[in-house]
Amino acid sequence: MDAQRQRYLQVMGIQTWAYAGLRSLEQTPDDPHGQSATDNGPQWEALAAEVAGCERCKLSATRTQTVFGTGDRQARIMIVGEAPGADEDRQGEPFVGRAGQLLTRIIQALGYRREQVYIANIVKCRPPDNRNPEGDEVDACASFLRRQIELVQPEVIVAVGGVAAQNLLRTEASVGQLRGRRLTHPETGIPVVVTYHPAYLLRSPGEKRKVWLDLRHLARTGQPA
Ligand code: URA
Repeated sequence: MDAQRQRYLQVMGIQTWAYAGLRSLEQTPDDPHGQSATDNGPQWEALAAEVAGCERCKLSATRTQTVFGTGDRQARIMIVGEAPGADEDRQGEPFVGRAGQLLTRIIQALGYRREQVYIANIVKCRPPDNRNPEGDEVDACASFLRRQIELVQPEVIVAVGGVAAQNLLRTEASVGQLRGRRLTHPETGIPVVVTYHPAYLLRSPGEKRKVWLDLRHLARTGQPA
């Protein structure tokens, strides 16, 4: 971790540790890379409770429940999607519908289990009729995702789809324009890899190869190109 990021996290009051090279892929959720799984536990619990009770925007009126995030809270790779759909709204977990099943297969193709990455969305509540989240909804939720990123401290963030990429990177560029570029999350300096959303791949299966091209370096090294 570079000195600037370390300093930023310290200022934010977030516990950090020194990376000893790449973490083992054989880590288990109970003993991730030799640390107690309860590291930063109180911050996670407080954040999850805040999200569960959130009424900052109009999506709170139509949701069944909030969809916080799932996976290894000390993961090397954090995947960020757009927003919960109907299945996620029902089950309270991100990416559990058809697109989610494809995402799980992509994660496995990278050599990871789904539980070894951390998965979250730009917004934590389902937009009605699966429309894109609106600006005020994204803004209301932004600090939740930022705090999740600060707590996980991933080595890389994978933004799937345009909504995730544009909001994480504060750009209006398309996925096509952002793929294959060295990008960083402005607030934390963490590298961001942009690729297509699995829902797009369900509609355009011929594009799956491009996702692999985007992610193969991650698969080989666990780090962005
Ligand atoms: N699409 C997303 O972007 N996120 C989910 O959780 C489900 C579908």
